[in-house]
Amino acid sequence: MAKEKSQFVCSDCGGTSPKWLGKCPACGAWNSLVEGIAPQQGETKNRFAALSATAEVAVLADIEANEVERSPTGHEELDRVLGGGIVEGGVVLIGGDPGIGKSTLLLQALDSLQRQGKSTLYVTGEESGAQVALRSRRLGLERSQVRVLAEIQLEKILATLQAHTPDVAVIDSIQTVYSDQLSSAPGSVAQVRECAAHLTRAAKASGTCIVLVGHVTKEGALAGPRVLEHMVDTVLYFEGDTHGPFRLVRAIKNRFGAVNEIGVFAMTERGLKGVSNPSAIFLSQHAEPVPGSCVMVTLEGTRPLLVEIQALVDSGGPSPRRLSVGLDRDRLAMLLAVLHRHAGVACMDQDVFVNAVGGVRISEPAADLAVMLSIASSLRGKALPKGFFAFGEVGLAGEVRPAPRGQERLKEAAKLGFTVALVPKANAPKKAIAGLEVHAVERVEEALNLVRSLA
Ligand code: TYD
Ligand code: MG
Repeated sequence: MAKEKSQFVCSDCGGTSPKWLGKCPACGAWNSLVEGIAPQQGETKNRFAALSATAEVAVLADIEANEVERSPTGHEELDRVLGGGIVEGGVVLIGGDPGIGKSTLLLQALDSLQRQGKSTLYVTGEESGAQVALRSRRLGLERSQVRVLAEIQLEKILATLQAHTPDVAVIDSIQTVYSDQLSSAPGSVAQVRECAAHLTRAAKASGTCIVLVGHVTKEGALAGPRVLEHMVDTVLYFEGDTHGPFRLVRAIKNRFGAVNEIGVFAMTERGLKGVSNPSAIFLSQHAEPVPGSCVMVTLEGTRPLLVEIQALVDSGGPSPRRLSVGLDRDRLAMLLAVLHRHAGVACMDQDVFVNAVGGVRISEPAADLAVMLSIASSLRGKALPKGFFAFGEVGLAGEVRPAPRGQERLKEAAKLGFTVALVPKANAPKKAIAGLEVHAVERVEEALNLVRSLA
């Protein structure tokens, strides 16, 4: 086959150039040219030629809306984030740090799908067939019938998919796959995007469910799978501390189910095991309360999770640092400003570090109150009372806003033995919850005064 010509397309304005340039000749943007395949001669001649024949238009009400059929993978926590299971022709992207457990989880899922009579294909570009076999033995998958292909060339993978038409195929990982048609290196944005587009088309045409594995760095950068998010149907991200046992799988996008659902797993000697009752796993165990620590209840997806927020405030240099792990840094800066302006707690000359224990990422604003209280607690060197927790959003005017589904959060914490709650006024329970003393506040200064009176 003749090599197709490549061209460079600006990711900002769509301008093209036959060779790579640092600056787009059309719009002047820097570093925006990405390699792609040049359209064949004639293809560009008349883009509107297709208009000469009209396509069929249907009335919405007349189109049959079939509920998509799902095949459960047999791993309850994975099915939860997938929205019930895999979907025919669906494309799933699973991202995460290296070593977090993507290959392990997918091999386990393929094996159980195969045992349910689905045909599967595991395409490995990072490991040899022998290494995959070794892992399957370690996972205790005796006599696994999962078919394995060690291949990284896109054209060969596509041909194999066409020849075998499996029900599910895993491409581990999309960064190792390359197409002959492009001269850029495997793993570059151009290759990743081109290969994923071809695989997506193959999935839609054949009905095979394709799962793409992608590595992301902490910042989500590095020719990351981020560029693929809009192409695929479902995006799942692994979170968690690779040194600890727990892993979260979060649905960021799902055309076939709810987003922000999370699946919780524990990494064991024999692979990933679902954790069906995860509410207490992100608490660190202190015998006595320590300064700079505040527990919050987060509710993303359907299950409440208790997470400990830790803060350390320490005298800084001329330009003090504000660092956060698992929480938004801009939000931290905002909270420090609110704390100063509305509650008179100043951290201007202090380094401030905050951390969500266990490598969880908390994006909901209901964490605000706990972040604020842990900072104040660290600054004063005084611990919050034993059995204390808080949640609620903080606004720029110093108001404390309610968090959605407050009752569920309160009940979960009470169930785990927490005894004192600080919550927004609108989240105060109408009926007392057994064993729980609830303090409701409307403003941040009120919250800080209350905590001082409790301690
Ligand atoms: P892996 O699935 O290879 O990660 P990824 O594909 O996301 O890069 O997971 C590798 C890690 O998991 C490795 O550090 C070893 C650990 N592990 C276990 O603890 N138990 C097991 O049964 C397996 C297979 C791996
Ligand atoms: Mg892997």
